[in-house]
Amino acid sequence: MAIGVFDSGVGGLTVHHRLVERFPDADFIYLADQANAPYGGKTGEEIVDLTRAGCERLFEAGCSLVVLACNTAASVALRRLQQTWLPDHRRTLGRPVNALGIVVPTIEAATGLPWEHEAERRGDKVEKLDVLGVFSTPATARSRVYEIEVDKRRQDVAVFSEPCPNLARMIEAGADRAALAAEVEGHVAALTTRIGRAPDRAILGCTHYEIVADLFRAALPTGTPLIHQPEATADALARYFERHPEYLAKGTGQRRFLTTGQAGVQHSLVETFWGAPLTFEPA
Ligand code: DGL
Repeated sequence: MAIGVFDSGVGGLTVHHRLVERFPDADFIYLADQANAPYGGKTGEEIVDLTRAGCERLFEAGCSLVVLACNTAASVALRRLQQTWLPDHRRTLGRPVNALGIVVPTIEAATGLPWEHEAERRGDKVEKLDVLGVFSTPATARSRVYEIEVDKRRQDVAVFSEPCPNLARMIEAGADRAALAAEVEGHVAALTTRIGRAPDRAILGCTHYEIVADLFRAALPTGTPLIHQPEATADALARYFERHPEYLAKGTGQRRFLTTGQAGVQHSLVETFWGAPLTFEPA
């Protein structure tokens, strides 16, 4: 049984690449829903429907586990699908299938980092000392998933989200570096103004942003730590396989890439995400 990796486009390849490095013998099928990308400006219902269709396609292609390598799909749709659709779908297929997201692994990495400040207690009040900036699509920011999940774990971490409505689309369209740098700088400045100072750490909460991580590093104060989502997801998946070894079947290292969009050799930007040119099959 293969491991499925799903994203609205090619951004999830940053996560996929790390997973393949970590589990080289497993079979992987990547699905990019490019016909419907970007997801970031869509309604919750649209995102749930598209994510369900993506998972269904990957299960049908032989996957037993699907990693939603898309913050927007994981933030908005994952819990709904786990509660309302997956149990029935499992019964229909007559075999164990599951879907996991990349948000919780990221939050676990963000809240467990060794360089956390100690919460400073004044009476009963916890001073929020550690300011975490999250750059994401508008749908992810609206879901408030990062604020909610961090708050459950750490009261001394304050989360400020900055929605970036155009960035994923610009990256996917291959916008030039100067335009991308201006966009990133604008969002870092907006977040800094809103917080009243720069964040102590940042999450690039959209898989597309990983390939412009250097532009975020340049726009943020020097040395601001960025939580690395691909690594956090690979670590969380390794822990998941320890608890559920049935999902890590030994494969032959097969790699398939499916798209709902234009099949064939993808534009050169894919090389930046994956490290080599890729040919996508029609989904
Ligand atoms: N790359 C996806 C994410 O992580 C979605 C980008 C989009 O389709 O808007 O949020």
